[in-house]
Amino acid sequence: MSTAQLSVQGLRMAFGGIVAVDDVSFEVQPNTVHALIGPNGAGKTTVLNCISRFYNPQQGRVMFRDEAGEHDLLSRKSHRIAPLGIARTFQNLELFGELTVFDNVLIARSIGMRATLVEALLRLPRQRHEERSERERTMAILDELGLAAQAQVQIRDLPYGTQKLVELARAMALQPRLMLLDEPAAGMNNREIEALGRTLKDLQARTGATLLLIEHSMPLVMSISDRITVMHNGRFLAEGTPREIERHPAVVEAYLGGGKSGKRR
Ligand SMILES: Nc1ncnc2c1ncn2[C@@H]1O[C@H](COP(=O)(O)OP(=O)(O)OP(=O)(O)O)[C@@H](O)[C@H]1O
Ligand SMILES: [Mg+2]
Repeated sequence: MSTAQLSVQGLRMAFGGIVAVDDVSFEVQPNTVHALIGPNGAGKTTVLNCISRFYNPQQGRVMFRDEAGEHDLLSRKSHRIAPLGIARTFQNLELFGELTVFDNVLIARSIGMRATLVEALLRLPRQRHEERSERERTMAILDELGLAAQAQVQIRDLPYGTQKLVELARAMALQPRLMLLDEPAAGMNNREIEALGRTLKDLQARTGATLLLIEHSMPLVMSISDRITVMHNGRFLAEGTPREIERHPAVVEAYLGGGKSGKRR
């Protein structure tokens, strides 16, 4: 039997006539950084949305393994994914612009674990004042990501790259086994990307979490990934170590040729 933490087999997701993901299979081993790359429109975010159950794929199997055994993710509703220890970030931010950095991270656990959004927001005042351990945990995460100084700043007043870090902090608040990260480095400069790479590697070493990383920044992907799966036009194109992928002829060709939707943003 497979030892993979996450196994995606024969995944297919079409929107009307557009086949966004066509028979895609790959496995993610526990305690690794596994990158999912490919040109714009390759289908990467759609794969993530199927795993986290935002989308309902027409075909395929997605299995997640933990100590309790194997879990068939496609038989679960999206709100039953986070309690398994699977957290995600969004390519387009899903933060509360009016709330502070601190509060966005503080309520992440409530939203992920049990409550509806309204319940989580109603709990917020109580969490702020009473649940000390939750606040300490939140502050520790902000510290780790270098966000402590901005804890009381409203999200909407922060640069995009910093908002991406808050998204990561929210995912970390769930203390996940598996983190699904959709372009965490988007909007960051080179210095910030390097820092993010170190943070992700440290996080993974410290918590033993597995990271599935969608990313366009090749320096980041190449420096922190154990394995890389490449998609192109909805299909699996290649898989290997960073060294193998870097010089893989089909991968080079796919990037030079551009994706369905053209060049990189
Ligand atoms: N909800 C949707 N409805 C219709 N089409 C969609 C939907 N989501 C994605 N698609 C289409 O599926 C294809 C794959 O999109 P997806 O967002 O998964 O690509 P991606 O690899 O994440 O690209 P990028 O690197 O630009 O984020 C695209 O052609 C896109 O237009
Ligand atoms: Mg995407």
